[in-house]
Amino acid sequence: MIELYSYSTHETKEFGKKLAPHLQKGQTLVLSGDLGAGKTMFVSGILSYFGKENEASSPTFTIVNEHELTKDLKLFHFDVYRFDFEDEFLAIGGEEFYDKGVCLIEWGEKIESYLPKEYIKISITKDNEDINKRIIKLVSIGQKYDAFLSEVFDK
Ligand SMILES: Nc1ncnc2c1ncn2[C@@H]1O[C@H](COP(=O)(O)OP(=O)(O)OP(=O)(O)O)[C@@H](O)[C@H]1O
Ligand SMILES: [Mg+2]
Repeated sequence: MIELYSYSTHETKEFGKKLAPHLQKGQTLVLSGDLGAGKTMFVSGILSYFGKENEASSPTFTIVNEHELTKDLKLFHFDVYRFDFEDEFLAIGGEEFYDKGVCLIEWGEKIESYLPKEYIKISITKDNEDINKRIIKLVSIGQKYDAFLSEVFDK
């Protein structure tokens, strides 16, 4: 488990930016945390590394936004907050995206049965005392991402 502390929107984006060059096709990241925690900010940090920061928006109404990060790498940014049933993920063909690029799923815990066996869970928590502070925890679910996370963030 990696635990990071962010004291500004900028710092949260910088963490996303740090992860960005390591992303590969077939990876899935689940972003959890309250409304306004900073999930979309983290995604916007990833996009900014690829020069696409202005593309970042919460795909609340579209469920999934597609971004071409490079010629060979796509990012699928989901927000499943509005789902009432897990099966809605099947209805949009959600699982078919997993091997087509990197999938980032805001509120992914809502579709837990349809998540891949292994993924990176990113939980963002607000701090009670400091309105700009966030605790960002990154956990490897399954073993696939254990070494990956420490290579990205322990240096
Ligand atoms: N340290 C911080 N990191 C990230 N965002 C912060 C931080 N401090 C303050 N903020 C503010 O918190 C808000 C985070 O919004 P964001 O859209 O990223 O949340 P979200 O987790 O995606 O919410 P939602 O579940 O509604 O999609 C922004 O208004 C941002 O300016
Ligand atoms: Mg969001």
